[in-house]
Amino acid sequence: MKIDIVTIFPEMCRAPLGESMMKRAQEAGVLSLAVHDLRDWTTDRHRQVDDIPYGGGPGMVMKPEPFFAAVRALKADSPDARVILLTPQGRRFDQACARSLATESHLIFLCGHYEGVDHRVVEALVDLELSIGDYVLTNGAIAAVVVVDAVVRLLPGVLGDARSPEEESFADPAVTGHGPLLEAPHYTRPADFEGMPVPEVLTSGHHGRIATWRHEQAVARTQRNRPDLLGENR
Ligand code: ADE
Repeated sequence: MKIDIVTIFPEMCRAPLGESMMKRAQEAGVLSLAVHDLRDWTTDRHRQVDDIPYGGGPGMVMKPEPFFAAVRALKADSPDARVILLTPQGRRFDQACARSLATESHLIFLCGHYEGVDHRVVEALVDLELSIGDYVLTNGAIAAVVVVDAVVRLLPGVLGDARSPEEESFADPAVTGHGPLLEAPHYTRPADFEGMPVPEVLTSGHHGRIATWRHEQAVARTQRNRPDLLGENR
């Protein structure tokens, strides 16, 4: 998969996406990642990317010209690339969206800053506006890192021998046969830590009982922490 990120803070993306699994994915050739400075597509002496809002109001708005130049350049060799704008006004990102994006061959992420991005960018260039949650970050670069990490770890070969995505929280209901549940608690050695023992069933070696216990724990945890996933009010 090819991914381009366009931001005025390239280092906010390069550092986190240069570590761990994301680094391995690039070394393995599964991911080809390029992080671009939006200012490289400005044409004025000051490399200006923002301006005052029409109609008044606080803050600055990101200018359209650098985004149009960036997307035209990045789409030159792949006109079918999907363009995603990170914005708190977007559709909420979730695991199903990550699975869908993981089937694409080229994603271009545009990161907003200040009060927002000139709406002509959204109308003419953007296929999908995405928010990572109902809170406001200082800029979209951090949100782009979150989305890229969640998508790339689903690509074949990235998780290696680790367990499959079907076994984890928010697994695909079409695969698991039940609605999305949070994972059951995990334990490792020692069997007794400062008087807190590991649940007996996990040391029993009885796979059927362990599977039943894990499912019950998953349901109870989901009920407690995310009743909305079970169709109940929070
Ligand atoms: N930019 C600022 N806040 C954001 C959010 N919650 N999601 C995506 N992009 C953002």
